[in-house]
Amino acid sequence: MSDIIRKATLDDIEDLLKIENECFVDPWKRKDLDYELMENPINEVLVLEKDMKLIGFIDYMITFNSATISQVAILPPYRGKGYARSLLDAMEKSFPKDDIDNVVETITLEVRVSNEKAINLYEKNGYEKVTIKPKYYSNGEDALYMVKRLLVCQ
Ligand SMILES: CC(C)(COP(=O)(O)OP(=O)(O)OC[C@H]1O[C@@H](n2cnc3c(N)ncnc32)[C@H](O)[C@@H]1OP(=O)(O)O)[C@@H](O)C(=O)NCCC(=O)NCCS
Repeated sequence: MSDIIRKATLDDIEDLLKIENECFVDPWKRKDLDYELMENPINEVLVLEKDMKLIGFIDYMITFNSATISQVAILPPYRGKGYARSLLDAMEKSFPKDDIDNVVETITLEVRVSNEKAINLYEKNGYEKVTIKPKYYSNGEDALYMVKRLLVCQ
């Protein structure tokens, strides 16, 4: 039995919907996931399978030199074991390396200011707090905008 991180396929939609509903206040609907998996050409979704069960995922997009994380989630019973960190690492490993003009230099994200767990996760993985985006979410909550710089001048 082992852990596997792989690209999501359309067959994963039901499991992804379950994770959405268990992990988010304002979960994405089936149409949103369909769009991410089938229509959004710059989007990537990686899923984490443990013992053949889908327990988490990361959803991100790459535009030229920048990647943006839309969502990362791990089912509650599997939290605190380093799985989200593994997904962040796998995302970075997936970035294209062969085209020097399109090397990913920064990763950006927005996270709810109340989401301490996620903010800790990102800070421990090299993301810095940049600014607050007021009333970013539909319930009026502010977002913290965070950035990780992958290319650092020596
Ligand atoms: C945020 C989330 C993805 C973390 O997943 P996870 O697999 O538990 O995270 P990891 O085990 O990889 O933890 C990595 C770091 O995150 C932080 N973290 C994880 N659980 C935490 C907790 N209960 N309290 C505080 N910090 C926590 C810690 O800094 C931890 O590092 P450490 O183990 O060295 O202390 C998970 O809690 C989740 O799915 N939450 C709901 C969805 C969500 O809010 N996603 C983020 C916004 S899109």
